[in-house]
Amino acid sequence: MEARSPTSATGEWPPSPPALPLLTARLRLRAFRAADHDDVHAFQGLPDVARYLYRDPMSRDEAGAWLAAAIAGRFVADGDTLRLAVTEAGDDRVIGSVQLRLASVPARQAELGYIVAPAHAGRGYAGEAAATMRDLAFAQLGMHRVFARIDAENVASIRVCERLRMRREAHLVENDCWNGRWGSEVVYAQLRREWAG
Ligand SMILES: CC(C)(COP(=O)(O)OP(=O)(O)OC[C@H]1O[C@@H](n2cnc3c(N)ncnc32)[C@H](O)[C@@H]1OP(=O)(O)O)[C@@H](O)C(=O)NCCC(=O)NCCS
Repeated sequence: MEARSPTSATGEWPPSPPALPLLTARLRLRAFRAADHDDVHAFQGLPDVARYLYRDPMSRDEAGAWLAAAIAGRFVADGDTLRLAVTEAGDDRVIGSVQLRLASVPARQAELGYIVAPAHAGRGYAGEAAATMRDLAFAQLGMHRVFARIDAENVASIRVCERLRMRREAHLVENDCWNGRWGSEVVYAQLRREWAG
């Protein structure tokens, strides 16, 4: 994603689908396939992955439904989510996912999300995948603002956004609840002009 001009995105909608895979220094971000079911369940079924996501670990069937939605994913209308599989270069197994949820077409807002399987965590992979997805959002998909909502205790995820030079915009207090635990969230965001600058 070399293009950084703020004028590189036109007002045309919908944008062209991205040419996949997207390559980072060490990763490939590719389309999901039905054959990824085991890999997806292997990380979506883990309590460590679900801990800050306000949901339970996924059953195999739930992981299959999530995968089906990822395969069918598009980026056209509010609520659509573009999900890409994260693999290491040279190994096609899926070790995580990175996604953009289209929060508003008229306001060109997208929510960034990412998961890296614990066995592959701590190597900077989430930051690498998230930066590429953020660049895609601005350079090709014409977004005006990219944001992330993160549980305030999810230190690793907060570091990912800070490394992307996103601004902390809000600290919501006990705005969600799951399994009897109140959750507080922080909101990080970046505007197109901040990214371009
Ligand atoms: C959050 C998550 C994506 C981070 O993935 P990762 O590939 O390990 O992240 P990185 O290696 O890029 O590390 C990001 C930063 O967090 C730090 N970090 C990693 N684990 C940490 C921990 N347990 N406590 C504190 N900091 C931690 C790293 O040192 C790094 O900091 P740095 O940029 O200052 O060096 C991963 O843990 C995950 O998938 N968690 C479950 C799903 C989730 O919560 N997703 C985010 C939803 S908002």
